[in-house]
Amino acid sequence: MMSPVCERKKQAVADSFSRAADTYDSVAQLQRQVGEILQQHIAQAGLGKPARLVDLGCGTGYFTDRLATTYPDAHIFGLDLAGGMLAHAKAHRHPRLQWLGGDMEQLPFAAHSVDAMFTSLALQWCEDLPAFFRDVHSILTPGGWLALCTLGPSTLHELRSSWAQVDDYVHVNQFDSAEHLRRCAAGAGLVEVQWRTDTVQLHYARLGELTHELKALGAHNVNEARAQGLTAPSKLRALTQAYERFRTPSGLPASYEVYWLVLKKAVPVL
Ligand SMILES: C[S@@+](CC[C@H](N)C(=O)[O-])C[C@H]1O[C@@H](n2cnc3c(N)ncnc32)[C@H](O)[C@@H]1O
Repeated sequence: MMSPVCERKKQAVADSFSRAADTYDSVAQLQRQVGEILQQHIAQAGLGKPARLVDLGCGTGYFTDRLATTYPDAHIFGLDLAGGMLAHAKAHRHPRLQWLGGDMEQLPFAAHSVDAMFTSLALQWCEDLPAFFRDVHSILTPGGWLALCTLGPSTLHELRSSWAQVDDYVHVNQFDSAEHLRRCAAGAGLVEVQWRTDTVQLHYARLGELTHELKALGAHNVNEARAQGLTAPSKLRALTQAYERFRTPSGLPASYEVYWLVLKKAVPVL
């Protein structure tokens, strides 16, 4: 049973991404770059061709479409919590793809029924990683795989520490560590095939460009301890000043700690 706080958070995530569905693709530069690296990892890992594949947290379906090109014979589903994202995907992506409204923490698939799962920058919105990996392990067919990328704790550290100079609210979402992620995957019995960690930095001329981009992506802060209502101009000035400490010749940096991971469900030895 999901707690009321968790339910409220999920609804906030779904609403935020639904509102962003029409702007998402135009600002998703990091998401494209990171998802493409994940596709390269899949190719390098020499994984089997799946008959049934699911893109979890598919958003506007950009990578679901790409997967359809890579695996022309596979039955491919895109699953997302946000109805607005799915409506966008349905209207813009390949007609042979199937779209499912749902929560990747309550997957609507039977045991041993899916050969591969892909999830790009969606897992960081999930609450219970041990349960997620257990579910994935149960649903995958033996030899099946999960390719994922997600964010680590130092993501947006410039924004987090700048806000910390202004007030005590939580302004930036918190992210799980690499150790936690690895422990949860291994605990569920999934075998690590590939792992990569890197920091990707984007640069902006002004802080407003970064905050505008986060809003257009739907990547809102959904913590219960977030500040409610509009931010006062005096706070925004203080934030801007604090962020200027990080300025480089390329502009204001926004860092993303990214983990790419390919996991496999072992084939039982008879
Ligand atoms: C940053 S977007 C990534 C979208 C897409 N994978 C891409 O790379 O462009 C995150 C997506 O995850 C979805 N999401 C967040 N939590 C989810 C959950 N629990 N179950 C399913 N989808 C979820 C959001 O609605 C959003 O569409």
